[in-house]
Amino acid sequence: MTTNGTGTHGAILEDKVPDKDTAVVELRSAGKSYGNIRALHGVDLKVFPSQVTCVLGDNGAGKSTLIKIISGLHQHTEGEFLVDGEPVRFSTPREALDKGIATVYQDLAVVPLMPVWRNFFLGSEMTKGPWPLRRLDIEKMKKTADEELRNMGIVLDDLEQPIGTLSGGQRQCVAIARAVYFGARVLILDEPTAALGVKQSGVVLKYIAAAREKGLGVIFITHNPHHAYMVGDHFSVLRLGTMELNASRDEVSLEELTNHMAGGTELAALKHELSQVRGVDVEELPEEKDLTAPVASSEGKS
Ligand SMILES: Nc1ncnc2c1ncn2[C@@H]1O[C@H](COP(=O)(O)OP(=O)(O)OP(=O)(O)O)[C@@H](O)[C@H]1O
Ligand SMILES: [Mg+2]
Repeated sequence: MTTNGTGTHGAILEDKVPDKDTAVVELRSAGKSYGNIRALHGVDLKVFPSQVTCVLGDNGAGKSTLIKIISGLHQHTEGEFLVDGEPVRFSTPREALDKGIATVYQDLAVVPLMPVWRNFFLGSEMTKGPWPLRRLDIEKMKKTADEELRNMGIVLDDLEQPIGTLSGGQRQCVAIARAVYFGARVLILDEPTAALGVKQSGVVLKYIAAAREKGLGVIFITHNPHHAYMVGDHFSVLRLGTMELNASRDEVSLEELTNHMAGGTELAALKHELSQVRGVDVEELPEEKDLTAPVASSEGKS
């Protein structure tokens, strides 16, 4: 993951001191069509260093399409995509990575039977000795992986254990620490808490906050407004490929965010439909007015 053979870990971070005023990643009226299908349209997004930008949205809203553009997997077909204020168009994920944009996918692309330390360096192994006797520097990789994980506050009993034996949450944390070590400036996490229980989600949220403390701009994709609100500085809600809400933390409460995500009007309609079905006690469900009315309460804000 190093650049041009010159970089060691952290090279990108050292080259460019994070500037809090310039968006490291920006989309301007960006869109993407797959043939006739317009998956994304007119999306504006700014990602700043030391901030967590949450992208929320229901299934099919365009979240994955959005991050595929930023991570170099797909190209936008409308609008502009800028990195450090410069228009870019990545042809491969490698180009995004060279700009310090690292993506942790939900399936994580790990080799389950390989030890934790080996997965930490997968694809960017440390070597020693002159060619043709060059070989893996196992001791150094183990030591570095151990130090880096501890650095992030991740304590694992044994780095020799296959990564497949770690919990889903722990694996996400290793992936986050890895991105930080290899000099990511922007960390994209695609639904890292989707398959996790409450406790493990909490652990992953903690490392999202740790990555922010280290100066990274984090793009946190999630369905869950509660998880988003726990760590988010900025919130973007996608609906049917367009940005429905774009608000910073002081502009939106948890209740409003939840309401946007749930689609107050749609829930009210669903409640009406459910009332026609026998066996569903709609009295237990929230009032329609509570589902549609904007909530001004600041409860839940930290
Ligand atoms: N490669 C593709 N070819 C054609 N249509 C696609 C392609 N990828 C996504 N789409 C369409 O674009 C829309 C947005 O999909 P996307 O995967 O970005 O949504 P999402 O918000 O990530 O949903 P989910 O929460 O289910 O992951 C959907 O209607 C989807 O069917
Ligand atoms: Mg998706």
